[in-house]
Amino acid sequence: MHIHLLGTGAGGGFPQWNCNCNNCKRLRRGEIKSSPRTQSSITVSADGVNWVLFNASPDIRAQLEAFPPMQPARAVRDTGICAIVLADAQIDHTTGLIILREHNKPWDIYCTASVHEDLTTGYPLFNVLSHFRGVNWHEVKTDQSPFTIPEADGLRFTAVPLKSEAPPFSPHRHNTVPGDNVGFRIEDLNTGKNLFYAPGLGMVEDHVVNYMENADCILVDGTVWTNNEMSNEGISDKLASEMGHLDQSSENGIMNMLKPLKKPRKILIHINNTNPILDEESPERAILDKAGIEVSYDGMDIQL
Ligand code: MLT
Ligand code: MN
Ligand code: ZN
Repeated sequence: MHIHLLGTGAGGGFPQWNCNCNNCKRLRRGEIKSSPRTQSSITVSADGVNWVLFNASPDIRAQLEAFPPMQPARAVRDTGICAIVLADAQIDHTTGLIILREHNKPWDIYCTASVHEDLTTGYPLFNVLSHFRGVNWHEVKTDQSPFTIPEADGLRFTAVPLKSEAPPFSPHRHNTVPGDNVGFRIEDLNTGKNLFYAPGLGMVEDHVVNYMENADCILVDGTVWTNNEMSNEGISDKLASEMGHLDQSSENGIMNMLKPLKKPRKILIHINNTNPILDEESPERAILDKAGIEVSYDGMDIQL
């Protein structure tokens, strides 16, 4: 299975247009060893021809330009994207659907009933798309039953309900239901390998540990190093936990959750621009290195 990381930043990307935090400012000035990151999205393919897009970021246009296999040019209008899978209804994960409106047939979109509800009510992207070629919605169940996608030969998917938070515009904000946020196990049926992808994770429940333990590679929520990172810099009055993201450095944080896992390659994704780990020379980054945890970057390729 080919896994290509189209965008490894959290909402806003890095640098964020209006942000002068320590990282964004230094990136603009060329004073930090780091690289810019677009907003959160990955793509997966077993054959290198048909690609399943996981989340559609507002940066999708530039992301596709930067990855030629997704523009196979077999016809005057063409794409390598055979289906779109959504982990939640957040702006950074769905707004790219509008950018993709010129598709010449309805998009096959796989998401849960609650994400579908958000995208037809609080953030009615599906309604807008119905005025173009429309959406062919495939309901993703939250009972952890595996599903397949016809064009994505050789891959099998399982949605894993996660404790996180629904978006601010969601009818389920502060009152989440299973399906507001899911992670995915993505299995390659030929190689027998699997990826566990969870870009928004507020709590590591037992069933999640189970998926992580058995994965060959984990791409997991890397939003913040500390829970109060955004309020510290005077950027937001919200804690990361209130937004449904588990920090990396606290006692019950991501780092300690990943520590006991023997099998998987461990990689952080969906990294907020305030996170000190974006600075490759920071002490926080050195701590991650020592723990065997990688920090993803745009354009990163993983083969499983
Ligand atoms: C999140 O991951 O919590 C959201 O994408 C935040 C946002 O709206 O940018
Ligand atoms: Mn996000
Ligand atoms: Zn910033």
